[in-house]
Amino acid sequence: MGRFIINGGNALNGEVSISGSKNSALPILASTILIKGVSVIENCPNISDVNKTIDILRILGCKVSFSNGKVVVDSKNANMFEVPSDISEKMRSSIIFMGALLGRFNEVITGYPGGCEIGERPIDFHIKAFEEMGVKFENSGCSIYGFGKNFKGANINLDFPSVGATENIMILASVSEGQTVIYNSAREPEIIDLQNFLNKAGADIKGAGTDTIYINGVKELKPVEYSVMSDRIEAGTFMCAVATTGGEVFLKNANATDMRQIILRISETGCIIKEYENGISVKKSGFIKPVNIIRTEPFPGFPTDMQPQMMSVLSLARGTSIIVENVFESRFKHILELSKMGADISFEGRTAVIKGVSSLNGSCVVCRDLRGGASLIVAGLSAKGETCVQNSVYVERGYENLDMKIRNLGGDIKLLK
Ligand code: EPZ
Repeated sequence: MGRFIINGGNALNGEVSISGSKNSALPILASTILIKGVSVIENCPNISDVNKTIDILRILGCKVSFSNGKVVVDSKNANMFEVPSDISEKMRSSIIFMGALLGRFNEVITGYPGGCEIGERPIDFHIKAFEEMGVKFENSGCSIYGFGKNFKGANINLDFPSVGATENIMILASVSEGQTVIYNSAREPEIIDLQNFLNKAGADIKGAGTDTIYINGVKELKPVEYSVMSDRIEAGTFMCAVATTGGEVFLKNANATDMRQIILRISETGCIIKEYENGISVKKSGFIKPVNIIRTEPFPGFPTDMQPQMMSVLSLARGTSIIVENVFESRFKHILELSKMGADISFEGRTAVIKGVSSLNGSCVVCRDLRGGASLIVAGLSAKGETCVQNSVYVERGYENLDMKIRNLGGDIKLLK
């Protein structure tokens, strides 16, 4: 397992190019299974979750090449409908292949993605929705088998605006007969990106970005070229790093429309954020102000994927802040690690109280999930002395060349494999 070694105290200055969005690239790559031909997906981040998704496409019989952000997928000869359980157990997001494999082969076998570091991560919304479209499921030990034919559109009410369930339903419904309406759908920008990709391939989908999405099934989708949106969570993570270390950074390709709540809350801590055609600038100014209370919510609320990084910023604020984690039931594993660095944070259930301290101290800390790891790096960049963040593999799942990007801005960080 690799580790990041950080010597804190350097302000970050300069320009960083924000990579393509992990959470948009993954469902789009899975959808290429529906397209019997060559699809080209640009601006894909070179991160382990994307590389694992490409491994799955190859196992399913696709020919795939990946270089300089461009993934070329030839799904003509795809001939497998089973996602190997050793991969699906390690990567929760592989559940997104379910809709695409049912749409292509009328069958799917995948391991139960199972819980992960931030919570139980059930898939009941996905299963219930697919059953309403005519899919039958059988469990066999730790894997699940979905099958049927002539899947039909249905009116689906989601109990919670689940991102993955919304995406999975859109993908299968795009090639199922009749109309599917998803009520209480997730509204994240990545859902809009998936709609745009599928429509460019010939699908008929409207309403992404709202709480109701209409999909009229078409016979088949055709090969397409598409460029993935930029990663709003990576951009927000860099904003937090400037907030804790000082300096001024231009986030090239960041899209402010996707980041309203992130921009609002980070501005509240005292940072100056300016929006431009091709990106966003963020500048630390004065001391970090506390933020009364932040509640994580489905989009357009404050994103849960920014909660740990924001906690690192608020641990250095002049005053007390509260964060309530409403989306995942155990997404506070970074609190213990931040406390090792001198942060004064207590929590009960889903509510954390962060009493700001004047500075953090370098320490040896353990990364237990992707965004928790990012929060420890954000804290380490400002801490006095050396911080060692172990289990870098979690961070490498979702951030492309993070150490190099930070070094190019003046941060003292290296990744030891
Ligand atoms: C996506 O996960 C993202 N992952 C997550 O990002 C993100 O945190 C999450 O959406 C919320 O925005 C990808 O897009 C690859 P959900 P997903 O279904 O789809 C419960 C990151 O750091 N639920 O919206 O799995 C679930 O347990 C990752 O980049 C059910 O109960 O999230 C959770 O409490 C972490 N039953 C809540 O809904 C279901 O069938 C939201 O989950 C599905 C979900």
